[in-house]
Amino acid sequence: MNVGFIGWRGMVGSVLMQRMQEENDFAAINPVFFSTSQVGQNAPFDAGKLLDAVAIDELKKLDAVVTCQGGDYTKQVHPQLRAAGWTGIWIDAASSLRMADDAVIILDPVNREVIDAALAAGKKDFIGGNCTVSLMLMALGGLFRAGLVEWLSSMTYQAASGAGAPNMRELLTQMGHLHDSVADQLADPASAILDIDRKVTAELRGNAIPTDNFGYPLAGSVLPWIDREVEDGQSREEWKGYAETNKILRSTTPIPIDGICVRIGAMRCHSQALTIKLNKDIPMADIEDLLANDNPWAELVPNRKEETLARLTPAAVSGTLKTPVGRVRKMKMGPQYLSAFTCGDQLLWGAAEPLRRMLRILRE
Ligand code: HSE
Repeated sequence: MNVGFIGWRGMVGSVLMQRMQEENDFAAINPVFFSTSQVGQNAPFDAGKLLDAVAIDELKKLDAVVTCQGGDYTKQVHPQLRAAGWTGIWIDAASSLRMADDAVIILDPVNREVIDAALAAGKKDFIGGNCTVSLMLMALGGLFRAGLVEWLSSMTYQAASGAGAPNMRELLTQMGHLHDSVADQLADPASAILDIDRKVTAELRGNAIPTDNFGYPLAGSVLPWIDREVEDGQSREEWKGYAETNKILRSTTPIPIDGICVRIGAMRCHSQALTIKLNKDIPMADIEDLLANDNPWAELVPNRKEETLARLTPAAVSGTLKTPVGRVRKMKMGPQYLSAFTCGDQLLWGAAEPLRRMLRILRE
């Protein structure tokens, strides 16, 4: 299988390359690497030279394309390639094609049967989901599979990586900037914390803290709006929760999903606090069983302080494929109301891993 890779050097692309090496995926394919800026230079893994990422004639020779190049590339190249009669499989991390009628959102531990049915029906466009949606479904797959979710509200704590690599750097630079502004006083145990706080607040509101990427300070603050406004006061990130979840699950009756998406100062793990209305009152033991056993990555963290703080945080989960879920309990609102908290690496299950696995599915 000739597989073309575009955007393999960016952040999501690099995570994909790393995962493919770890899983020995390159052994079973003939990889062809493309570039938008370094055509003719050596490709990685001794795979010849870099080809031009917009050369339709070269792309047409491929059995599959895997792109992490971003939405603008997809919008430019995908229609041209299809118009040129290409019938290969297009696997994409960008959101541009996700809601297209012919496109399938891929998250195989959750919707493998949707993917298989699409392949059997001759569908050709397979698109990775929004990271928050994918991570929520990985963690709560058991409840959805059992048809128990009447509605769900997700309040997110999204990491800087979701906004891009420069944003991760900016978060750390902001942290350093705030620290530097009070370093002398911090080193003096006799200094007054309210003086320190006053200085930090002045820095947060001043012009010296770098904000070129986020537009606002994230370190020492939170940003309760992600992406542009779409409708009814919802941000696009919030809109995706309902639209993509129901498309991934191919729900016959759409499940209401809504909440507030918030950027926080984590590096690459998105967390979510969930309120779930179940459509019936079922015992906690059954709920725990469904959550713990749905897929190999969704582990149930017992609702105790020590395990929660040790296992259910970006610090614990970052760089791993685990999608733990914890803080699971019935809420005061009634026996059908469940709380949960989940955390997952948005570059892995939230971006690269579903793409990598789709290539595997094609080879089965
Ligand atoms: N839109 C997500 C975020 C990134 O801003 O965190 C990946 O889907």
